Amino acid sequence: MLDESEKTYPPSDAFAGTAHIDKATYDEMYAASVNDTEGFWAEHGKRIDWIKPFTKVKDVNFDYGDVSIKWFEDGTLNVAANCIDRHLKDRGTQTAIIWEPDEDGEDAQHITYQQLHAHVCKFANVLKSMGVEKGDRVVIYLPMIPQAAYAMLACARIGAVHSIVFAGFSPDALANRIDDCRAKVVITSDGAPRGGRVTNLKDNVNQAINHAAEDPQVLVVKRTGQQIAWVDGRDHWLHEMEQDVSDQCEPEEIGAEDPLFILYTSGSTGKPKGVVHTSGGYLVYAAMTHQYTFDYHDGDIFWCTADVGWVTGHSYIVYGPLANGATTLMFEGVPTYPDAGRFWQVCEKHKVNQFYTAPTAIRALMGKGNEPVEKYDLSSLKVLGTVGEPINPEAWNWYNEVVGKERCPIVDTWWQTETGGHLLTPLPGATATKPGSATLPFFGVQPVVLEAESGKEIEETEAEGVLCLADSWPGQMRTVWGDHQRFMDTYFQQYKGYYFSGDGCRRDKDGYYWITGRVDDVINVSGHRMGTAEVESALVAHAKVAEAAVVGYPHEIKGQGIYAYVTLMGGVEPSDALRKELSDWVRHEIGPIAKPDLIQWAPGLPKTRSGKIMRRILRKIAENDPDSLGDTSTLAEPQVVDDLIENRMNRG
Ligand code: WTA
Repeated sequence: MLDESEKTYPPSDAFAGTAHIDKATYDEMYAASVNDTEGFWAEHGKRIDWIKPFTKVKDVNFDYGDVSIKWFEDGTLNVAANCIDRHLKDRGTQTAIIWEPDEDGEDAQHITYQQLHAHVCKFANVLKSMGVEKGDRVVIYLPMIPQAAYAMLACARIGAVHSIVFAGFSPDALANRIDDCRAKVVITSDGAPRGGRVTNLKDNVNQAINHAAEDPQVLVVKRTGQQIAWVDGRDHWLHEMEQDVSDQCEPEEIGAEDPLFILYTSGSTGKPKGVVHTSGGYLVYAAMTHQYTFDYHDGDIFWCTADVGWVTGHSYIVYGPLANGATTLMFEGVPTYPDAGRFWQVCEKHKVNQFYTAPTAIRALMGKGNEPVEKYDLSSLKVLGTVGEPINPEAWNWYNEVVGKERCPIVDTWWQTETGGHLLTPLPGATATKPGSATLPFFGVQPVVLEAESGKEIEETEAEGVLCLADSWPGQMRTVWGDHQRFMDTYFQQYKGYYFSGDGCRRDKDGYYWITGRVDDVINVSGHRMGTAEVESALVAHAKVAEAAVVGYPHEIKGQGIYAYVTLMGGVEPSDALRKELSDWVRHEIGPIAKPDLIQWAPGLPKTRSGKIMRRILRKIAENDPDSLGDTSTLAEPQVVDDLIENRMNRG
């Protein structure tokens, strides 16, 4: 019998026959894209409309100390005009956005390209009337409502730089981001319904601004109509401001390398960093990957279930699909409300053709059995996608068999906030898939596997090591907001001449890539990136905590769970109540997604004689694998390990 990982699933002839890219085309285009990168992107850069066409394609330097990444640098464009105006002639009355609310009983909305144009122009004029100018930063802290897309595109239209903060983040996390990017305006809503519960987002914004050094104005979308605290002079209702502005707003001419957005993401050290994406290359890359990875054809209904607070929502709810003139579905709710059939009910209701979600959602729904899926007619589905973390073959098979009825190719897309779009992914009409593998590089992408220690490139096809990229692609991040040195230190220092992804991987005999997970101190909880350092600094900010170390451990649904070792201040008694207090504290400091799943009281932490915490040991204990701790002889106090093993929290 074949090992599970060796089974391949080639596209059917029927699928390949109508696909944009079949295997021969992929091979040919991929070869062209790496043999003549400039020529390739000169051609594909034309897929968007330029105000002033570019004459330079690529100007990239990956040398540590001197890193600089520019694509199409002398071209000018407007991203919003590419996502809206250029479609008005041929598809003005086509639905651009289908919005499905949290409550099944509330009506869905269908927003045409014409309507989108009017909404975005008005929104842009409101921002202008608040004094927002080209280059200013606007923080968006909204639920998944159409105004989130309008706000993004309104910023793009006037050249303001948006920074979306996921509405699940706490006031403190929001305050840090407002300060870091020095936001002029924060856009929020009164309330945010999600899974039948309502969060008072406006209240979070009030608290955030109280803590922040900056003093932005606040623009409020009326979503729920609930009572909110109001600060006169600072706060403005969107619907009131919109009464006084025109529904026409000329798009600004923007340089290809002007920033489009900042998106904060977690790294292995310090506070979250502001990933900067610019306008031209990002849009070309988001649009092209959207079309080819999902084999999107005109008229298809595309649904990406991510939140716009994450990069997946930026590239594959808003920018990629709208640049392609697609119909994109935006869902306010959660997969399990009112029940575990919600995703499939929405697929049936709106006749979704491409469906894109995270392995954690698939695993959670798989746990509810097949009945909630089988109740619905899913015959409209053509392609299924996953993103955010490695998918285990069991979940892949369930997705393939129960959701896709073995008819729909699965695209397991590997990429990052930093990469702007897919780097490793099957193309559904071209690539034979293997459950659990993100398969092969997208056009222009040059993955390499390096030996982790030596940094030597492994030339053999079969390889295991760290995943780096040997050259740039148009969607690559350009810098860390306000800290180019940190950009270079994070991605270009350890392995000279390469972009270092932070992921480990294996390349099999067919040249397929298998992501093995992060090799740094970043963990991936339900597809959300979390820096262990962030959770640690939240914990030690609590008055009863002396020291904390946080690691990931395997979690059946979430992929990884958060395991915290906590050393209490002298005289503080451990208790379950204190565990809850600390969990709630982290929730309050960062947000619910950062809440530790397990907290172990640690009288001491294993440290080297120079005082460095030995995380390898803590990981093994958290993984319930204390027999393979390896060498502990270099520890300052080897006996602390025995206590940690004896009292470990994960025995599963
Ligand atoms: C992980 C999300 C395995 C990986 C778009 C990466 C994946 C991090 C996959 C980026 C995948 C993402 N298979 N692992 N298909 N997709 N990852 O920035 O560890 O939120 O480095 O971007 O998620 O997470 P981020």
